[in-house]
Amino acid sequence: MRSEQSEKSGRRAKGAAAPQPTAPTDPTQLATTLPGLLNPGSEVSPLTEPEMAQLNEIVRDRLGILLPARKRALVLGRLERHVQELGLHSFTEYCEHLKADRSGRAMNDLANRIVTPHTSFYREPAHFEFLSQEVLPPLTARLAREGSRDLRVWCAGCASGEEAYTLTMVLLEHLGTDRAGWQAGLLATDLSSRTLETAATGLYPEERIRSLPSTWQTRYFTRHHGEFVQASEKLKAEITFRRFNLMNATFPFRRPFHVIFCRNVMIYFDEPTRQALAARFVSVLAPGGHLFIGHSETLGRDVAGLRYLRPAVYVREGT
Ligand SMILES: C[S@@+](CC[C@H](N)C(=O)[O-])C[C@H]1O[C@@H](n2cnc3c(N)ncnc32)[C@H](O)[C@@H]1O
Repeated sequence: MRSEQSEKSGRRAKGAAAPQPTAPTDPTQLATTLPGLLNPGSEVSPLTEPEMAQLNEIVRDRLGILLPARKRALVLGRLERHVQELGLHSFTEYCEHLKADRSGRAMNDLANRIVTPHTSFYREPAHFEFLSQEVLPPLTARLAREGSRDLRVWCAGCASGEEAYTLTMVLLEHLGTDRAGWQAGLLATDLSSRTLETAATGLYPEERIRSLPSTWQTRYFTRHHGEFVQASEKLKAEITFRRFNLMNATFPFRRPFHVIFCRNVMIYFDEPTRQALAARFVSVLAPGGHLFIGHSETLGRDVAGLRYLRPAVYVREGT
């Protein structure tokens, strides 16, 4: 099998064996040229190109997500099983099922099958260090001066919760014994109910918390049946987990946020979708509030109302 690098460059390393013929990886091609290959014996009729286009459109319009070509075969394999379980016989019927869904359940089931909720504790540490050293001290000092002890943080696209728990630990460490004097807490949202269920349990394999400072590991987690650890009730109580689709046209929050983390979520979206989402974030950020995005993501430096501060950090303009 060729390496990704040589795949990209299209060159073969000197002396390497000639590549073996492989099955096409584009699912549209798979479906049209090799019927039934996605799930041999399936009663779902093979996906056609117009069906693929229709499905892509629904996923993009409703969830903002562009299905990358390299992931389509995997995603379609999962979806084909789902279509079968629903008792449907084709992707055309499945698209109709999605369009007719008023409860949001069908879209949720779809989202659960297409997102790849990769995450970790203390991911991209520079952000947490910047937050605890540069953002929270002046922010809480100012709020206290103004007599408002309401500190609002949103973790948007929290996946299975590691980022939300990390943020909460940073907040608790910052507030220390003063915590009771603050109306602080964290809203953590995601599209996928499945990832949120994991997040709400606060139960993780022990090795996942090793990226956290060791004092935090013992302060905020207890060992749970062998190789698992359990987030403390104190930590869990700080977080409200909710399902929320970032494609919603309006963000229904009563009070603005001081800090929003939305990291490694916009990688799924195209440029216009990212810009529109950034504008919605601006609408719910307090003046001077911070927006953190993933280090591999870009928003450009010219989003109205947002000032670029440093890599992957923006500030809401105004006072
Ligand atoms: C790669 S994970 C990133 C998790 C975490 N923010 C981090 O950086 O570690 C991306 C998450 O974005 C969520 N997501 C994708 N599209 C979304 C949407 N339209 N609304 C809300 N969440 C979405 C996915 O469900 C997934 O859990």
